[in-house]
Amino acid sequence: MHRFQIVIVGCGQMANAWVNYAIARPDAAIVALVDIRRESAQAMADKHGLSCGIYTDLASALQETTANLVFDITIPAVHREVVLTALSHSCDVLGEKPMAPSMEEAKLMVDAAVRSGRMYAVMQNRRFLQPIRAYKHILESGTIGKLGFLTAQFFVGPRFGGFRDAMDSPLLLDMAIHTFDQARFLIGADPVSVYCHEFNPAGSWYQGRAAAACIFEFGDGIVFTFNGSWAAQGVPTSWDAEWRAIGSHGTAIWDGNHAPYAEVVVPETDAAKSFIAPTKRTEAEFQWGDRQERHDGCLDEMFAALIEGRDAETVCTDNIKSMAMVYGALESARIGQKVQL
Ligand SMILES: NC(=O)c1ccc[n+]([C@@H]2O[C@H](COP(=O)([O-])OP(=O)(O)OC[C@H]3O[C@@H](n4cnc5c(N)ncnc54)[C@H](O)[C@@H]3O)[C@@H](O)[C@H]2O)c1
Repeated sequence: MHRFQIVIVGCGQMANAWVNYAIARPDAAIVALVDIRRESAQAMADKHGLSCGIYTDLASALQETTANLVFDITIPAVHREVVLTALSHSCDVLGEKPMAPSMEEAKLMVDAAVRSGRMYAVMQNRRFLQPIRAYKHILESGTIGKLGFLTAQFFVGPRFGGFRDAMDSPLLLDMAIHTFDQARFLIGADPVSVYCHEFNPAGSWYQGRAAAACIFEFGDGIVFTFNGSWAAQGVPTSWDAEWRAIGSHGTAIWDGNHAPYAEVVVPETDAAKSFIAPTKRTEAEFQWGDRQERHDGCLDEMFAALIEGRDAETVCTDNIKSMAMVYGALESARIGQKVQL
């Protein structure tokens, strides 16, 4: 029998990546597909040539199969129900972001996971990229000196249709979780406060607020700012955001599309005597080996953690800190004041 007996819940658009990954693993078998719309689960089975059980509710699938692992790829409003059901059937859970549509629900899910002794880890595919690992190496290695200021720009204009169009805060809740998680990953620390202005810009086709400007303070004087809109047409940034990190000796850039690099003050320069100190360009070192990237890279890490009996990098007890950035920003926008995290 395969080591991982997987039930996949939510057979929408995103589920294809998860199904493909599970099929490719020799130690895994998909034992059931679940969707409240039976036809979606059946269509997923037909598309990928799966002969597993088809269900409309998770509890039945877990009772009637030998499942020990659940993939939660439902919409955010349903994640709590799925995760709690899976944990109560002694299954580990690997789920899509964001954990939940409220911080209270997310905390409840983390508590349940900790109590159960099972692992619940969250997909944060945008930190599993060769260039962001190389960019982090620039920041960690001291190439630009002591980090003081990190900025991210995120401007794209997708017309999704579906649940995002009706959300109150589609950008902050469904997308910025990625950029905030990337910032926490890059800085290697957690923020202490946030001030956020959230709004729906002119021309937006979203019902909710599709744009935001946020200022996060990290310890040690580090500031991270985020400017983003999901209703920005023309001259798009990368979906992985456009990054600028300013340190005491220079600046590191990652535009989200090309290799990161830095420009640092030439060491023998007496910078204080120059109007603009001369700098030298340094290319990023790619040291992350031949690992898989994006969803597959994050799933590789989650499965490695399950096999090695350790927490995954994006385990819920850590991921909730990225959630706290999202909900702190939402709270700040609501009250119009800086919020402590
Ligand atoms: N990591 C990423 O880059 C990324 C990208 C896109 C979406 N996502 C996330 O993936 C998740 C799914 O997004 P999507 O675009 O596939 O959405 P989708 O609407 O295409 O699919 C969701 C599926 O869940 C099913 N569903 C809803 N309620 C259910 C329930 N109670 N039980 C079983 N099935 C249920 C729906 O019928 C639908 O088939 C969301 O959390 C989203 O934020 C992540």
